[in-house]
Amino acid sequence: MFEVLSRCGNARRGVLTTRRGTVQTPVFMPVGTRASVKAMSPAELEELGAEIILGNTYHLFLRPGMELMAKAGGLHRFSSWKRSILTDSGGFQVFSLATLRKMEPDGVRFASHIDGTRFFLGPRESMAIQRTLDSDIVMAFDECTPYPATFEQAEKSLAVTTRWERMSREQPLNDGQIRFGIVQGSVYPELRKRAAESLVEIGFDGYAIGGVSVGESEPEMMLAVDAAAPHLPDNAPRYLMGVGTPRQIVESVARGVDMFDCVMPTRLGRHGSAFVGGGGTIPVKAGRYADDFTPIDPECSCYACRNFTKAYIRHLFNVGEILGVRLVTLHNLHYFLNLMRRIRASIENGTFEELRKEFQ
Ligand code: GUN
Ligand code: ZN
Repeated sequence: MFEVLSRCGNARRGVLTTRRGTVQTPVFMPVGTRASVKAMSPAELEELGAEIILGNTYHLFLRPGMELMAKAGGLHRFSSWKRSILTDSGGFQVFSLATLRKMEPDGVRFASHIDGTRFFLGPRESMAIQRTLDSDIVMAFDECTPYPATFEQAEKSLAVTTRWERMSREQPLNDGQIRFGIVQGSVYPELRKRAAESLVEIGFDGYAIGGVSVGESEPEMMLAVDAAAPHLPDNAPRYLMGVGTPRQIVESVARGVDMFDCVMPTRLGRHGSAFVGGGGTIPVKAGRYADDFTPIDPECSCYACRNFTKAYIRHLFNVGEILGVRLVTLHNLHYFLNLMRRIRASIENGTFEELRKEFQ
């Protein structure tokens, strides 16, 4: 169930209810690809205010595998994360990670990027895996159209996706699981519109915009959002997959997007890049911070900034202490989750356009 509580232009402030609780939108979902948000415990994620995290069909299917996931009783019990989980379908990772891919009508035959073992993944398999994982939000199985693609290539790829989404929709779910379709169509507004309309006709609980953040420019990304969003139901959540920078998030919220996920805060955190201010990053590892005894961001209320200096965190990275990675990851996730809190508050009190200007 999804309810829009207030609006500011096309931006929406809403609440999404899954069987595990409520998710305040616009929301950022930390990425927990392999049943772990890298370097963070579930307790830390809860403390940061995360209400939903991501998991990945492709990775969990390969390791630990579905026999073990069934034995474990699903992803929540296995990982001890008690709030909502959205699982991606594998339709993106097969195309970005697997080798020896062979397209077949009902899915993709591929070799694992880990040890070359051969597998088959299609809409039926993906839905079965996501039932075993027992995630709260299940993603339809799609083909992420590579970039760049000609109109003809994108049109052909979209036809495959639409068929696979219809097949995904026909598969059963566990009690209370909900399912999102994914709009493809590359950078072509006509295809994005057609994709959105077909998905609405098939009927999903929510609608994602995929095939973005694949090498296109930011204007092209926004064009894809602009082309899809007006054709999606007003009363269903909209999720922009794999996005993005703070500015891309703010600009997409302005266009009516409700949900986001991105590896940026966790990945950059592991490399020592910390988000500050209007979306820039500072390299905490840099020599210039060797004797800087101020926090990453003096205004930030996260545990890392309340207790530690850049000089100390730089030292941790310098000698390879894992606490360094943990503190910058914590700070970065706080930055993104706090950005979403600020976005939600600004939509509620009518100041979203002012917030938007901070990220131009
Ligand atoms: N993650 C980022 N982009 C995509 C996409 O287009 N499809 C899927 N399934 N996952 C994604
Ligand atoms: Zn901080």
